[in-house]
Amino acid sequence: MNSLVTIQSKRITLRSLKIEDYLQIFEYSKNLNVTKFLNWDYHKNTEETIDYLNRIISLYKYFPTSNLAILLNESETESEKIIGTIGLLPKNPKLPNQYELGFVLGENWWGKGYAYEAANTLISFTNKNFKIEKILAYCATQNIFSFRLLEKLGMKREGIIKKHILKNGDFLDSYLYSLQNIK
Ligand SMILES: CC(C)(COP(=O)(O)OP(=O)(O)OC[C@H]1O[C@@H](n2cnc3c(N)ncnc32)[C@H](O)[C@@H]1OP(=O)(O)O)[C@@H](O)C(=O)NCCC(=O)NCCS
Repeated sequence: MNSLVTIQSKRITLRSLKIEDYLQIFEYSKNLNVTKFLNWDYHKNTEETIDYLNRIISLYKYFPTSNLAILLNESETESEKIIGTIGLLPKNPKLPNQYELGFVLGENWWGKGYAYEAANTLISFTNKNFKIEKILAYCATQNIFSFRLLEKLGMKREGIIKKHILKNGDFLDSYLYSLQNIK
């Protein structure tokens, strides 16, 4: 498969990220509310966003759906708009069909079902093309929107990982979720 992908669903499109996307990604990555529970800090300038995009793009040669832009389709917006990213990254070369799910959306776009639609679209595309045995996802125990989304996707809570995320000098606990038997 080509390392660049585009996947369409009803309201959104998922596509490989490009360096030229940096201003749209910076627009939400600079927001402290967005990165509050993430294992990366808010971007203080566009150089940080460009570094972040370079790291993402360097992974495409290993796995094409490791992190994709989420764009709103024309039915949802007047012009092309990146609202966030989502990815499935293989966990370990010895377990090539086990993936970690990660996602982030700009705050203006929360609570509209876009992350749910993006996750379902990405999971079914990746399963069809690469076969998924298991998906893992970690989220801070305070990140209610995130774990509600994981549960809506049918993921099961497997346990708590103590002091898993380092945020502003404090350690946060995470829940570990998993999904198996993907159709
Ligand atoms: C977590 C995140 C991606 C959810 O995206 P989203 O598009 O808002 O999620 P959805 O609209 O698809 O909602 C899925 C479920 O989450 C819950 N939820 C999401 N936003 C909510 C809100 N504003 N209020 C209440 N519940 C909410 C609901 O239970 C919802 O299910 P429902 O629509 O049946 O009620 C988004 O909040 C985000 O980007 N947060 C910051 C980054 C982050 O923390 N990423 C996760 C790291 S583990």
